Amino acid sequence: MASSRVLLALSLALLTLTVASLPGTPTALSTSYYNKRCASLQPAVRSAMARAVASDPTTAAAVLRLFFHDCFVNGCDASVLLDDDTTTNLIGEKSAFPNANSLRGYEAIDAIKSAVESACPATVSCADVLALAARDAVSLLGGPSWNVRLGRLDARIASRDAANANLPGPGSSLSSLLDAFQRKGLSARDMTALSGAHTVGRARCATFRGRAGGGANGSGGEVINATYAAELRGACGGGDGAVAPLDVATPDAFDNGYFRALMERRGLLHSDQELFNGGSQDALVRKYARDGAAFAGDFAKAMVRMGNLAPAPGTPLEVRKYCRRPN
Ligand code: HEM
Repeated sequence: MASSRVLLALSLALLTLTVASLPGTPTALSTSYYNKRCASLQPAVRSAMARAVASDPTTAAAVLRLFFHDCFVNGCDASVLLDDDTTTNLIGEKSAFPNANSLRGYEAIDAIKSAVESACPATVSCADVLALAARDAVSLLGGPSWNVRLGRLDARIASRDAANANLPGPGSSLSSLLDAFQRKGLSARDMTALSGAHTVGRARCATFRGRAGGGANGSGGEVINATYAAELRGACGGGDGAVAPLDVATPDAFDNGYFRALMERRGLLHSDQELFNGGSQDALVRKYARDGAAFAGDFAKAMVRMGNLAPAPGTPLEVRKYCRRPN
């Protein structure tokens, strides 16, 4: 009896070892994953990201959003970076509705990956490059920094349908935002903290026209400051592609201005204002608006949790050489 138990334990240990060493099987993420494999990784990403932001400061917001759109669709596996490929019938995420006309930053990630390949060829995944670049984007804009857990692999596949199904839209209600994050194992607090990423970056009028026409203090169904609604109507005079800052107070600084703006009913997207509209997140929005350090701390923790989202078992994985196509 005892010996059969020992045998069972040994077989289980062997199975675990075998599965963990199969190519393409993700191992647990760790902050020290590249310490021996590629010691110069983090300075290489940081300086390439700093160069990209110096030549176009809006790149920081673009890269931060790329990381969210990667992690929410089958985990953080750089699937969002794959180009469509008719020869292999790959219809990827770039043409999905939430991404098609506004997701940016692909060239910046190409440049960072190329710097990393020069330092450590065929060693560092695009998914890890993106996780580090997103962290550096936040700190370059004056936001918090954190230790990034590493060791992700890149998917050889991507799905436009999955992107359409998993990424929340700007018209979302509070309950559907909470659902979308809960489905990823992220709490309401994580959701509100992560939405604070909208303290930087811009959105196209196509995503906020409904609010612009919202009328004085909600007469058109929107909870919105009347002067702000008029400003948005002005911005939308430039057409669907005209942009406005997501944080009207301090558009280019990673601070808590976004939450202060929500309290003034000056959230740009309907989904933003839903966080402060008499619902369950009002108290947290108030807290973040008065305590920037509390927001920064929660944001960093939530980014780590979002970065832990793993691809589904069975996803074919590798360390991609070029982020836009499988090896
Ligand atoms: C809570 C649900 C969210 C919704 C509904 C949402 C929606 C949007 C929309 C509609 C835009 C503008 C896109 C356009 O112009 O077409 C946008 C931009 C942006 N989003 Fe979100 N988002 C959400 C959460 C997040 C999260 C969690 C992050 C990052 C952690 C993030 C980062 C950004 C950034 C940085 C931009 C500006 C991008 C740029 O300037 O290029 N968003 N988001």
